[in-house]
Amino acid sequence: MAFVVTDKCVRCKFQDCLQSCPASCFHEGVNMLVIKTEACIDCGACEPECPAEAIVRDTVPGAAFWVEFNNKYSAMWPRILRSGEVPQDAEDWMDVEDKLDTEFDPAPAAR
Ligand code: F3S
Repeated sequence: MAFVVTDKCVRCKFQDCLQSCPASCFHEGVNMLVIKTEACIDCGACEPECPAEAIVRDTVPGAAFWVEFNNKYSAMWPRILRSGEVPQDAEDWMDVEDKLDTEFDPAPAAR
């Protein structure tokens, strides 16, 4: 069991989730984070921390897609241990649906 990040994170990238993770399992893309599910200890601490409600348990309906997505990109993106800058327009993207189709950038974060 694990938690995963959905596309509600795209362009929000608040990074509050990071601080609560005792297992350092977040990885960083240009405009969102994902969780390395095999590193996740299923503590659930990150889920209520996300202002965009982007984090879900891997057992909720529809989560299977996001498990695969998190596994794919956590293998390609660098681990993130400390928060960087939050996008200035992050709040404007909180209520936008289906950002995977329109806004997702598959590139790893450059830090
Ligand atoms: Fe994304 Fe929410 Fe973390 S917007 S970076 S999953 S706090």
